[in-house]
Amino acid sequence: MTPRKIIIDTDPGQDDAAAIMLALASPEIDVLAITAVAGNVPLKLTSLNARIVTEICGRPDTPVFAGAEAPLRRKLVTAEHVHGKTGLDGVEIFEPAQPLEQAHAVDFIIETLLREPEGTVTLCALGPLTNIAMAFERAPEIVARVEQIVLMGGGYFEGGNITPSAEFNIYVDPEAAQIVFASGVPLTMMPLDVTHKVLTTRSRVARLRANGNRASTEMASMLEFFERFDEEKYGTDGGPLHDPTVIAWLIEPDLFTGRRCNVEIETGSELTLGATVVDWWKVTGRPENALVIGDVDADRFFDLLIERLERL
Ligand code: BDR
Ligand code: CA
Repeated sequence: MTPRKIIIDTDPGQDDAAAIMLALASPEIDVLAITAVAGNVPLKLTSLNARIVTEICGRPDTPVFAGAEAPLRRKLVTAEHVHGKTGLDGVEIFEPAQPLEQAHAVDFIIETLLREPEGTVTLCALGPLTNIAMAFERAPEIVARVEQIVLMGGGYFEGGNITPSAEFNIYVDPEAAQIVFASGVPLTMMPLDVTHKVLTTRSRVARLRANGNRASTEMASMLEFFERFDEEKYGTDGGPLHDPTVIAWLIEPDLFTGRRCNVEIETGSELTLGATVVDWWKVTGRPENALVIGDVDADRFFDLLIERLERL
């Protein structure tokens, strides 16, 4: 089996870190690079955190590029209230040995898609879609060369998490999301409807910690910090582990179910800015542009995550 080539576009974030770890631990996946974007915390921190995570995984050779500092047309909204002021609260922050790559993340995305054979590179988007939209705008010829985009973002029956109707990643840069959803690239979307079903319960985090290796221990500590906000908000045992669903879908798609739908992004209304309008019941006749995931086998998802992280 040839591993699938991916670029992880991300704003770490503890759950982004879990997704990066899952990808780096999995032989089905070849991480070409990590491209950082501003989101949960500013770009300086997301590009630092990405390198901290690769070093914790013992994979400091994974190239990390810094991308957009701000959304396409709006001021950056961050989420320190969830992730802590570093974005990775729960572990000790250190200066990684591996420097940032010199090139801009958007240039790296463009060059990679032009260089690699058409249809062989998957983009995994775990944060606001600014870098990917910028690449598509700057070099439209790359759009048809992307194999697929798998993204964490949006919500429909579940509503939003940053506003009543918008999920954070889409809300931060709705114009970028609109460009991506209209691009015609095969798209799989992991909305809150599915990520709210994968909860970092006490027993799951304890099993992860019991792996005993550095990556698992550090991840368990990150999750113990990360879940406190959502436990309080939702009254659950554990919080949703959003971003690793993207990687898990590439490894074991049969953990998930969904349906192909039309999805449009609200960019005009102040009240519902960043809402993902999912035509789940096919009432509009608008073309299907995304596979919208709705359900997951949460136990098998955590079995996969815990088993893979032990390998790092
Ligand atoms: C998304 O927003 C961020 O806070 C998380 O990392 C995840 O990508 C969930 O709404
Ligand atoms: Ca994220």
